[in-house]
Amino acid sequence: MSPEEAHGAQGAGHDGFGPGSEEGDVRSVTSAESGALERAAEAALRPKQLADFVGQEVVREQLSLVLDAAQGRGRPPEHVLLSGPPGLGKTTLAMIIATELSVPLRITSGPAVQHAGDLAAILSALEEGEVLFIDEIHRLARPAEEMLYIAMEDFRVDVVVGKGVGATSIPLELPPFTVVGATTRAGLLPAPLRDRFGFTGHLDYYRSEELHRVVTRSAQQLEADIVDEAAAEIASRSRGTPRIANRLLRRVRDYAQVRGSGRLDLEAARSALEVYEVDAQGLDRLDRAVLRALCTRFAGGPVGLSTLAVSVGEETETVETVVEPYLVREGFLTRTPRGRIASPMAWSHLGLQAPEAAAGTTPPLGRF
Ligand SMILES: Nc1ncnc2c1ncn2[C@@H]1O[C@H](COP(=O)(O)OP(=O)(O)O)[C@@H](O)[C@H]1O
Ligand SMILES: [Mg+2]
Repeated sequence: MSPEEAHGAQGAGHDGFGPGSEEGDVRSVTSAESGALERAAEAALRPKQLADFVGQEVVREQLSLVLDAAQGRGRPPEHVLLSGPPGLGKTTLAMIIATELSVPLRITSGPAVQHAGDLAAILSALEEGEVLFIDEIHRLARPAEEMLYIAMEDFRVDVVVGKGVGATSIPLELPPFTVVGATTRAGLLPAPLRDRFGFTGHLDYYRSEELHRVVTRSAQQLEADIVDEAAAEIASRSRGTPRIANRLLRRVRDYAQVRGSGRLDLEAARSALEVYEVDAQGLDRLDRAVLRALCTRFAGGPVGLSTLAVSVGEETETVETVVEPYLVREGFLTRTPRGRIASPMAWSHLGLQAPEAAAGTTPPLGRF
């Protein structure tokens, strides 16, 4: 099994995208999460070397220093923690680290390690200098987490032999290795674990020009003939996220193949994105439904999260974790202690007239 397959085998857990879809398990075309079936398509587009990794200059430079210095000393580099929202390149960077060091990459994830024993087995199988990638490291169970601190610091794991009163713990020396941890929630990592990482790289959303380069590069890899304006159009609707940019590119390619000339031009890009209901700001149908409910049913708010979620027939958690972060980041919506409020931009984006005394402004005094 290849590392990509091993990784793909564990993730999953998303809603259906609809029957007949080639990438059938992604919630929506603008989701930053990837489904199990999509991982093969993603693997094909992953840059293999640091030099091909687009954008994130700061992290890239820092990481290349860490790697070069370690290689110069002939020692494995310190442990690396990568944090940031989904789809920004954490897994890609972990793979690049192993490639750059010319060592095998072992892959696991927090949720996959149910018991400390599982982790002990993984650790004791590591060979000198190998990279162990632990995705969603904030979801490791506590006993595994504690075993990991020790392994990271002292290169030792205590293997428990036997059960009950007769159980003994035998310390097992490990060869030096490098842990690369990835997390979307760095704040959830307990401090002792966080402190074991010599280097932390924080990935941030990409600028439109960077995504433009991601799209151009991916199109080359897919041997798709794309015009620059189409790449720019896809980039600007991708929510700062390479995973979404690559997915929209594949949908535009489908469209061009089936309904166009095969060439990915601006017309094909716009029409395809219209079919998938991704608008000029990268908002999808659910995003717009939430904004519309907020503006038309609740007069722009403030309204409570659960009331808002019910009004669009969605789970509270979906609205909070999938829909809102992008709307907040783009300034369409604000979260206040009294509830959610639509910004003037939300009204104008929907083509609606904001009420005179819009949320946040004080009504005029002294009217008779
Ligand atoms: N900086 C980048 N340059 C080019 N492609 C990228 C970059 N970052 C991410 N990608 C692409 O986006 C997709 C998702 O990246 P991934 O590393 O799986 O994200 P994460 O692990 O942070 O969720 C992959 O197909 C990858 O090729
Ligand atoms: Mg990942």
